Amino acid sequence: MSARPRTSQKASRFSESVIREMTRLANQHGAVNLSQGFPDFPATQAIKDAACEAIQADVNQYAVTWGAKPLRDAIAADFTRRHGVPVVADTQVTVCCGSTEAMMSTMMAIVDPGDEVIIFEPYYENYGPDAILSGATPKFVQLRRPESANADWSFDPDELAKAFSNRTRAIIINTPNNPTGKVFTRDELTGIAKLCQHWGAIAVTDEIYDHILYDDAVHVPMAALDGMADRTVTINSASKTFSVTGWRVGWTVGPPDITGAIRKVHDFLTVGAAAPLQAAAAVALGFPDSYYRNLAGDYKMRRDRLMGILGRAGFVCYKPRGAYYIMTDVSAFGFPNDVAMARHLVTEVGVASVPGSSFYHDPAAGRNKLRFTFCKKDETLDRAEQRLATLTIKR
Ligand SMILES: Cc1ncc(COP(=O)(O)O)c(C=O)c1O
Repeated sequence: MSARPRTSQKASRFSESVIREMTRLANQHGAVNLSQGFPDFPATQAIKDAACEAIQADVNQYAVTWGAKPLRDAIAADFTRRHGVPVVADTQVTVCCGSTEAMMSTMMAIVDPGDEVIIFEPYYENYGPDAILSGATPKFVQLRRPESANADWSFDPDELAKAFSNRTRAIIINTPNNPTGKVFTRDELTGIAKLCQHWGAIAVTDEIYDHILYDDAVHVPMAALDGMADRTVTINSASKTFSVTGWRVGWTVGPPDITGAIRKVHDFLTVGAAAPLQAAAAVALGFPDSYYRNLAGDYKMRRDRLMGILGRAGFVCYKPRGAYYIMTDVSAFGFPNDVAMARHLVTEVGVASVPGSSFYHDPAAGRNKLRFTFCKKDETLDRAEQRLATLTIKR
């Protein structure tokens, strides 16, 4: 009998994505999918037309590996216009297959095995495997839930300061944040910037929800803070801003030396993102400001609608200030844990959510939480409301 070939230890240290698994379960059970963050409404016509035109114009071969020039130029111009930071498209922008690959390429480019990377938790679940695959040792800093309706999730500056050392290679910041909806303030980011400068660390900031802000929240780009442009990698993507999550077009903006390393990793990982979709993303980045105002305005209505639906069904909701997710406390329902409740919701009630434990390195920290997304059509939210109304709270 021949021995079974073995798989890598790296691959055994993380499990399948819980979020993507919930989508599969939702499809299997005909559940309303409020788990994975992809819009179920159409992308705007202009971006679809631009993609079709690019294909018809035969933009169908490999783009330059670090991104087609029109898209890199559009990314650089957009960054400078909005954030006031000069960006040279030829040396500072790398187009990747979504921000997912942008984060992976960045981590592989900046981290050596054993280097520490600080991650706020709860965190977008990809950051865990990203750290393992790049060899980083993650150091987690807690985001504490808000204590009042007007407060936001917060961290203890002393806990953060203690997480930094001369082994710290980078800190990952995601603002606006998935899953909490937290929008990091200028003060918070300034404190993080000072620590990065003191310890020689790189700030990797995932800003893919930067246009999706509510109420009085303001997005502060880390790269725009004093002394940070040359030690920040900003990650963004067309996925959420233009409702094209399936296109897989994302990018990094960073200083030339770090960009050079990212480009090498990116080239050998994926060669490049789909050329005609890069052409369309370049067109989209030229949309007028009204496009972005409408995007945020529409999501605000959806946020308020889902807050109402969940609140009436008995969930304790933490109101997001940005992005398109609502974290909830589900203790009142009396399920043994978050996974049991998420399974019950998807199989018996017909609504898919994400168990809170998938956003924490210690699953116990998320056992009383579920995350719901509201990037969905009114009809989808209506169906979720009807179904969730059948839930009962165990006292
Ligand atoms: C914080 C965050 N980063 C990255 C991604 C993945 O984005 P992309 O489609 O650009 O790979 C998501 C998707 O939900 C996300 O929430």
